[in-house]
Amino acid sequence: MSQAFDVIVIGAGPGGYIAAIRAAQLGLNTACIDASQNDQGGAAPGGTCTNVGCIPSKALLQSSEHFEQATHWADHGITVAGVQIDVAKMQARKSAVVRQNNDGIQYLFKKNKVRFFHGRGSFVQAVEGGYRIAVQALAQGAAPELLTGKQIIVATGSSARALPGTPFDEERVLSNDGALRLAAVPKRLALIGAGVIGLEIGSVWRRLGAEVTILESLPTFLGAVDEQIAKEAKKAFDKQGLAIELGAQVGQVSVGKKGAQAVHIAYTDAKGQAQALDVDQLIVAIGRVPNTQGLNAEAVGLPLDERGALVVDADCKTPVPGIWAVGDVVRGPMLAHKAEEEGVAVAERIAGQHGHVNLGTIPWVIYTHPEIAWVGRSEQQLKAEGIGYRAGVFPFLANGRARALGDTAGMVKMLADAGTDEILGVHIVGPQASELIAQAVLAMEFKASSEDIARICHAHPTLSEAIKEAALAVDKRTLNF
Ligand code: FAD
Ligand code: NAI
Repeated sequence: MSQAFDVIVIGAGPGGYIAAIRAAQLGLNTACIDASQNDQGGAAPGGTCTNVGCIPSKALLQSSEHFEQATHWADHGITVAGVQIDVAKMQARKSAVVRQNNDGIQYLFKKNKVRFFHGRGSFVQAVEGGYRIAVQALAQGAAPELLTGKQIIVATGSSARALPGTPFDEERVLSNDGALRLAAVPKRLALIGAGVIGLEIGSVWRRLGAEVTILESLPTFLGAVDEQIAKEAKKAFDKQGLAIELGAQVGQVSVGKKGAQAVHIAYTDAKGQAQALDVDQLIVAIGRVPNTQGLNAEAVGLPLDERGALVVDADCKTPVPGIWAVGDVVRGPMLAHKAEEEGVAVAERIAGQHGHVNLGTIPWVIYTHPEIAWVGRSEQQLKAEGIGYRAGVFPFLANGRARALGDTAGMVKMLADAGTDEILGVHIVGPQASELIAQAVLAMEFKASSEDIARICHAHPTLSEAIKEAALAVDKRTLNF
């Protein structure tokens, strides 16, 4: 017998579970289907972000940061002898953090009366007033359950892209999943792709003692980031010993038996010279592909774009009436908070309200040390678009709190329209950039000018004073630099 819902959400990552909760809050009878499972085969709602993305990576970044910091405490007069890392314990802590998040989502579903189905969802057919969806339980031999929904939200996320001809085995050739589960610190580790995952996960294992090389095909480092900020970040990573080779064209990857230097990578360097790298393990982080396989999207005529993403309009509506899609499975940045915003907006639109997502003020953060964060346009983008601007830069070296923290690498850069002074972009490399960027997002959402920020009282001594000083720098009147 088919069970009927107002809204069925396929996928319980940040896009899907948030959409389901918001739909239920708005009085819609809502179901959410998710296929992720934990090590015991149980349900693990939360998607890539909770299980193999944002949350476990930040847990490991924190552990490895503590480990590295402990070796630097001598400056504070603190001597710690024999600092060691117990990788099994670190991983157990990470898994506990992940589980807390999985449990939290299950609790929220109950609280908001969202019906949760653990299994794989797929379209069966359009029916009168909606769509029939099958839920295939993951246990072998189980018969699928049939649901009908008046409105469907697809939030199936994305998966790691493999190098052509080198599939993931999660032992020697790792995706983000295996990279976050390593049972021991590899002696030599290679990463392909100096993007967000390459830098974050590369940092974790370098801090714990691995010799890390990152091979990046592009000649520029972090091309999407403001050039001045990317240059400053690269300087810091070079100093840390994170070896980043730009302009490296990877050729043959040979995978031998498990053990020391099991992976041989042949590549051509930026000068066109043939090179080779032998490592214990290889992490491939060259972007992600939208998850549409197994959805049976053809049954209802859902089109895909050239990247394999579901086609949606600015409101996350697919061309098929009553079917919506949000998060990594559609266009736009593959970020958890972007997926969440879209999930809320779609639920509100289904309920007849006016959901709103401003893709122009979505913040980006790279959780390395120093952290990198930005919102809005970079200097190179403004130049390319021919927009007149004024730039203000303030280095953390001139910020009292950063000096007290002993964390002075980096800067805040603010870009404001030359005519109206409206803030067009804020770029930060430095301590707590992930938290500081929220002030810039808020300012931009309210269409603040740099003068507005320059005239707002900021507590002293705080890192956020660097944002006020960068705003003052736009008008060439910094007080502390
Ligand atoms: P997902 O989180 O991918 O969730 C989709 C869910 O749908 C999954 O549970 C999947 O199993 C399920 N599913 C797929 N197909 C079906 C089906 N047919 N039936 C049922 N269920 C299905 N973003 C940030 O903003 N900040 C970060 O710090 C950050 N760190 C990251 C670190 C790593 C290592 C990685 C890989 C990603 C990181 N991201 C981060 C990106 C973030 O994880 C994604 O942008 C986000 O998870 C996308 O959310 P989503 O809901 O669209 O999809
Ligand atoms: P990415 O797009 O950030 O970086 C991939 C990098 O690999 C690029 O620099 C690209 O030029 C390079 N590359 C592609 N093919 C290559 C090849 N054959 N050889 C060498 N280099 C190659 O993708 P990544 O790091 O896989 O992360 C995927 C996405 O997940 C991110 O774009 C982001 O949306 C999300 N994410 C977000 C995080 C955050 O918000 N802090 C953390 C981690 C992931």
